[in-house]
Amino acid sequence: MKKFKTIILAAGKGIRMKSDLPKVLHPVCGRPMLGYVLDVAQGLGSLKTYVVLGHKSDLVKKHLTGNVSVVIQKKLLGTADAIKSAQSQLKDYKGDILVLSGDTPLLNKETIKNLIRKHQQSKAACTFLTVATACPYGYGRIIRESDGSVAAIREEVDATAQEREINEINAGIYCFNGAQLFRALKKVTTSNKKKEFYLTDIISLFVKEELRVETATTEDFSEALGINTREDLAFAQSVLRRKILKKFMLGGVTIEDPDSTYIASDAKIGRDTTIRPFTIIESNVRIGSQCTLGPFCRIRPGSTVGNHVEVGNFTEISRSTLGHGSLMKHFSFLGDAIIGRHVNIGAGVVTANYDGKKKSLTKVLDNAFIGSDSILVAPVKIGRHAMTGAGCVVTKGTVIPDNGVAIGVPARIKK
Ligand code: UD1
Ligand code: CA
Repeated sequence: MKKFKTIILAAGKGIRMKSDLPKVLHPVCGRPMLGYVLDVAQGLGSLKTYVVLGHKSDLVKKHLTGNVSVVIQKKLLGTADAIKSAQSQLKDYKGDILVLSGDTPLLNKETIKNLIRKHQQSKAACTFLTVATACPYGYGRIIRESDGSVAAIREEVDATAQEREINEINAGIYCFNGAQLFRALKKVTTSNKKKEFYLTDIISLFVKEELRVETATTEDFSEALGINTREDLAFAQSVLRRKILKKFMLGGVTIEDPDSTYIASDAKIGRDTTIRPFTIIESNVRIGSQCTLGPFCRIRPGSTVGNHVEVGNFTEISRSTLGHGSLMKHFSFLGDAIIGRHVNIGAGVVTANYDGKKKSLTKVLDNAFIGSDSILVAPVKIGRHAMTGAGCVVTKGTVIPDNGVAIGVPARIKK
């Protein structure tokens, strides 16, 4: 594959989202959708990536990482105008330009790679991605000649009733010959229902000039999913959630009920761990092997669970570590806690880690037994083989020595 640069269109407000947050920052499975699009460009080795921003650009900027240049589109006059605003930064560049939309987070890197390859092999002026779908509503439709060659892309609002029947749509992903793109942009007008400069008009312009236009396709419609509404967002989330769960299952994790399970893509889970229904495992979490989690369990960021651990129903673990062989089987909360190996966390145990101003640590050493309904008011430290009695309140600053027993409210230590 020859070198290329990328322009990501992300200046729009996302009016149909009805949100104060710019559309491209809405998270899909815990991560702003723009991040996935950036990954595709960077993962394919884009020489440089230009992100076109407009609406709340300062806010969006904060989420950009890697070799990225920001381009500001002053007025949101349409997708062709967005490309034009990147022109001054690309004026000496003669190579290919990949154009992606910031609102298509499910793009597959391989599909885009094939698109670029096809473009470069056929020496086309433009190659773009199309997909067949039973629900083409809202997308640009592909108008083809009787010999199958592309004639134009027609936007939904400008299409005739007959054209709206076409089920091949424009995914909004293009590879252009850079010089041809910027030359043709000057010819794009606003003679359409929205009075916008459409990037899609370049296609019919190229065809009229007898320049070569090619298409590439994918079987998987979700890759082309452009998120315009909250309903699209929920759909993208469900597709991605399933893909992530599949990755864990292929890695040796049993997921009893994928429909009710959420696992962040970056979580690490060991083999032969079983995830029971209604379990949520968030970002930056590490779970060992041979564990059982759930049903109804939530593991929040910054948590580590060792091997052979059982975390049962109505449990929450946040920024905490639960060591090898420990049990926490019924309705409990651990926050900012370091729990050793083979510890029993009884039913209803709560670490009171927040005093209204700051969060404090709870330390429980190996083989300790925390009785049902114990409240551990952090900071506290509980020694090896120590015990707390049912219903006790271990107050702030308490240290229970190894083998010590604490009972009552407030807890007294029996030697
Ligand atoms: C666009 C395509 C449509 C395609 C669909 C695929 C055009 C005219 N239409 O429609 O053929 O089927 O994507 O998802 O291109 N943007 C800017 N500046 C602007 C306008 C938009 O940067 O002035 C950005 C948006 O932030 C967004 C992307 O361009 O990330 C696409 O814009 P959007 O309004 O979502 O276009 P669609 O109506 O979905
Ligand atoms: Ca869109």
